[in-house]
Amino acid sequence: MTSASCPVPENLSLNYHLLHKSPAEDDLRHLIIDISRAAKYISYAIQTTETGLSGNTNQFGEEQLKLDVLSDDILRQHLCESGLVCCYISEEQKDVIELDSKAPYSVVFDPLDGSSLVDANFSIGTIVGIYKGDVIGKTPREQVAAMYVLYGPRTILVYSTGDGVHEFLLNDVGEYVLLREYLGIADNAKNYSPGNLRAVNENQAYKQVMATWMEEEKTLRYSGCMVADIHHIFSKGQGVFTNVGGSAYPEGKLRLVFECGPFAYLVEQAGGAASDGHVPILDKKITDIDMRTPLIVGSQNDVNSLAKVLAA
Ligand code: AHG
Ligand code: MN
Ligand code: MN
Repeated sequence: MTSASCPVPENLSLNYHLLHKSPAEDDLRHLIIDISRAAKYISYAIQTTETGLSGNTNQFGEEQLKLDVLSDDILRQHLCESGLVCCYISEEQKDVIELDSKAPYSVVFDPLDGSSLVDANFSIGTIVGIYKGDVIGKTPREQVAAMYVLYGPRTILVYSTGDGVHEFLLNDVGEYVLLREYLGIADNAKNYSPGNLRAVNENQAYKQVMATWMEEEKTLRYSGCMVADIHHIFSKGQGVFTNVGGSAYPEGKLRLVFECGPFAYLVEQAGGAASDGHVPILDKKITDIDMRTPLIVGSQNDVNSLAKVLAA
């Protein structure tokens, strides 16, 4: 018998990367692969499903699109099949959903972020965080992995298991292939992405910083889908995204568990920062699944300067 080692493939796949380049243990690697498979079905559903309302609302009273419900079902199915998930928390479900109490991981997700943009044919995405054991009582810093999938002109998957942030492209045969092995975020933002800008009418500090960023001639890049808007920061290697509160949403619109937590993990892994204006998002204790939080995320100096003015 002759033994031969496997040749390094020309295009590194997600599986190869997880196996050889990431500190993820086998179970976590399998779970990430299963979630990445779900995302292929979500991507296909976006292209082929009608974009209408489902007739139901989610835990936040928001009208669910058929695609929100379908994406949630697709993820549930893949998490169930993995056998690795004790429970999951979804933007589209009002409770923690138990799957297999003996399984090691909890998964938190927004199955389709920015779904109201789908009929405008803007980019939308899936956001995922992974914890060992339970989620309630933990902080997002305790995630063991986070990832997102961006469905745009191309489908892009970005993940971290705590050793940098890695970017993959879904190719024509359904394989995720490595694009950039390490994404980094520089300390100073040239681009800004101001969410909930209506809050400037009630928040003078926010208004002042927005005016400063305009005077500095930062470039505006805001689509209304945080997956696309924060991916822009990863892709260009700088930028700052904000969503702060006003009277309609004192804590801002975005949710800690399945929107801000996973992005905070990824952004810090890339050398950026994520703050609620007072403390790092990664240090906020999760007491309820539906918690909202203000979010300032991206290039460190700009995150810190806005946080400082807001806190003053
Ligand atoms: P979702 O579609 O999951 O409800 O979330 C959309 C979020 C986020 O992606 C975006 O940054 C924000 O809502 C936009 O809010 P506005 O429509 O108030 O700008
Ligand atoms: Mn969302
Ligand atoms: Mn959503």
